[in-house]
Amino acid sequence: MRLELREVVKRYRSGTETIRAVDRVSLTVAPGELVALYGPSGSGKTTLLLTAGAMLRPDSGAVLADDRVISALPESKAAAFRRDNIGFVLQSFHLMDSATIADNAAIKLVLAGMPPRRARRLVRPWLERLGLGERHAATPARLSTGERQRVAIARALANDPKILLADEPTGSLDADRSRDVLRLLRDLTRERALPAIVVTHDPEAAEVADRTLVLRDGRLTDAGTLPRPVGSGTGP
Ligand SMILES: Nc1ncnc2c1ncn2[C@@H]1O[C@H](COP(=O)(O)OP(=O)(O)O)[C@@H](O)[C@H]1O
Ligand SMILES: [Mg+2]
Repeated sequence: MRLELREVVKRYRSGTETIRAVDRVSLTVAPGELVALYGPSGSGKTTLLLTAGAMLRPDSGAVLADDRVISALPESKAAAFRRDNIGFVLQSFHLMDSATIADNAAIKLVLAGMPPRRARRLVRPWLERLGLGERHAATPARLSTGERQRVAIARALANDPKILLADEPTGSLDADRSRDVLRLLRDLTRERALPAIVVTHDPEAAEVADRTLVLRDGRLTDAGTLPRPVGSGTGP
């Protein structure tokens, strides 16, 4: 799939003030392309991602998946589109603490009508790729934050998404795990020809990304001012 944002504007009103969280952003992400999106806190990264994934409706502009306008769908159709097409790794994981890790990862499949046993079987390889295979029957209460984050990633991938959107997916992971997860996302993006946007503070993400963009005050700039990761950019 190809994901396209055309002149997207998203405002929030608080009291008498209006914030342009996303300010005329145009961006096309090709099938198989992974875009790393950097930007200071409050620059609109999460809002951009939610708008790209049809969770928020833009005030103006449009979001297209292939040539279908997904930003103007009524909520019921937008929900179905998200369920069938979008893998979201949200900043807050919202795991169900009383369900097992496998059931958490399988929730979208079960909600879409798949028998739970089959859904658990399907998510097992994802849990294994994310280093959680041994713990599939545990509940999230016993997991570290990094492990919870990986369950959320497995959940995002379980419905075989056509578009991947991840909001700081490695924010709670140590450096090694973070590199593994970024490479997994990159490999998956290529294997399945998904467009992917990964919001991150991780300099490592620039290394695996096909393209790096920076958001400032809701506006997209190129990566000209991106700080170089330590130890790179000094070679011959
Ligand atoms: N639900 C909301 N209501 C009002 N303002 C919001 C809301 N969500 C975000 N904002 C504001 O929009 C701007 C962009 O926020 P956000 O997209 O969360 O940025 P980032 O993810 O880069 O930190 C910030 O000024 C933030 O305070
Ligand atoms: Mg954010």
